[in-house]
Amino acid sequence: MKVELKKGHLSDFKGGLLCVFLMQNDDPPWDVKPFLKDVPEERFEGKLLQTYSTDTMGQAKFAKLLVVGLGKKEEYKIDFLRRVAGTAVRYAAGIKEKELTIYVPSKFVGKPELNKMAQAVVEGAILAQYKFTQYKTKKDDLFVVEKLHILSKEEIGEGVKRGIIYAEAQNYARELDEQPANVASPKWVVEEARKLAKKYGLHITVYDKNEMKKKGMNAILAVAQGSAQDPHLVRVEYNKGKHPTYCVIGKGVVFDSGGINIKPSPGMHEMKYDKTGAMNVLGVMKAVAELKLPIHVVGFMPMVENMPSGSAQRPGDIVKAYNGKTIEVLNTDAEGRLILADTLTFATEEKPAYMIDMATLTGAMVVALGRHAIGVFSNDDTLAKTIEDAGTDAHERVWRMPVWPEYTEMMKSDFADIKNISDTGEAGSITAAAFLQEFVGETKWAHLDIAAVDMVKTPHPYLDKGATGIGVRLVTETLVKLAKKK
Ligand code: BES
Ligand code: MN
Ligand code: ZN
Repeated sequence: MKVELKKGHLSDFKGGLLCVFLMQNDDPPWDVKPFLKDVPEERFEGKLLQTYSTDTMGQAKFAKLLVVGLGKKEEYKIDFLRRVAGTAVRYAAGIKEKELTIYVPSKFVGKPELNKMAQAVVEGAILAQYKFTQYKTKKDDLFVVEKLHILSKEEIGEGVKRGIIYAEAQNYARELDEQPANVASPKWVVEEARKLAKKYGLHITVYDKNEMKKKGMNAILAVAQGSAQDPHLVRVEYNKGKHPTYCVIGKGVVFDSGGINIKPSPGMHEMKYDKTGAMNVLGVMKAVAELKLPIHVVGFMPMVENMPSGSAQRPGDIVKAYNGKTIEVLNTDAEGRLILADTLTFATEEKPAYMIDMATLTGAMVVALGRHAIGVFSNDDTLAKTIEDAGTDAHERVWRMPVWPEYTEMMKSDFADIKNISDTGEAGSITAAAFLQEFVGETKWAHLDIAAVDMVKTPHPYLDKGATGIGVRLVTETLVKLAKKK
């Protein structure tokens, strides 16, 4: 979908389908008013996502009108704009309109928010029209809106531009994440990372199995050893010659069968999404490069497949991690923390001001917070707070959880320095974070457990069924905020 900004008044608009948003009890824009005056309240009162559409029968410069409700003023949140824009795009696709114009008014919220509003509208529209169709041989019932015009009398070019960059980076991560493991092998991901690096002039280094062996990254190797696919550790660097350095790390398990502690069959196919963290890293790198942020960002993606086989690691195995600590692997399904252990240590060598990892780490996240939040675990209050603020803006909301020494205590092993699961299974997400913390040293770090939000199964106002790419806008916005603070 192409997005174009048109500066002007509603009355100057000429075209097909026009969409306006309307808050409950608010006056519609002057040009739209005549079409709403005889509409009974039961039919349309502006409730959130309520729609009213009509043909203008030659009585206006636009052929069709769609009004989407924005709800009550007191309840307004910036994310409502993503939702109404998503609704508009889906409506346009439903009636097979190739072009859609959305009018962004300046009335219902204060001026300073204007660019943020425009950004949200554009994000909602671009995210809502994304659908993974690559493997559908018949595409005739799939209709896409080709062009979105944003109409406004205000200066919102910045917001529109940012909206396009953020949402396209997210859709890019979704597209990669959707790839099934018979396509998306670690090697395939490496090639995709190379394509991205080439396009944006990023510096890329790929460490293969032998190099990892030499370095002693045995925790990554232990997870990968059961698979016919070789592991790869990818480092991508965006460098505008500026400092400080920020590292972004993503769990890249292209398929998580559980290994010898094999997972139950129901839902196992969803474990192709266990590479979401790593795909999000690529999304963030794309966004950072397009935004031309004045910082140095290094992305790390440990790519492996977790499989059971004659060469797979066994429960009870003990491995020496890259930082020298020994790990007793009590459950081969707790593999994400193993590959992250070595990668986090490796990332600390960049001496970053901050590092952030994203990982579909624990099913316990769903138990703790349901499907509406990302767990954030951090050893630094400033970083945690910045992520929380970014989460509010992006509506990829995070909730901070503790990583107290008592949780670290739960991960002490009888026969090695640390074990990869606790005895009780209590506080599953926190003990996983406490495990990771053993590998970050003094580096300021935050871990984002995205296990509950990596994909959606139920209808969402602007994210279709499947990979969500949630985390891309959150981490990008966090870097934007950190870049401003430095
Ligand atoms: N990839 C899973 C976590 C997961 C589960 C993500 C469901 C998304 C949806 C992770 O590798 C895993 O298997 N974790 C185990 C940890 C346990 C063995 C301590 C889990 O959550 O059950
Ligand atoms: Mn697992
Ligand atoms: Zn996993």
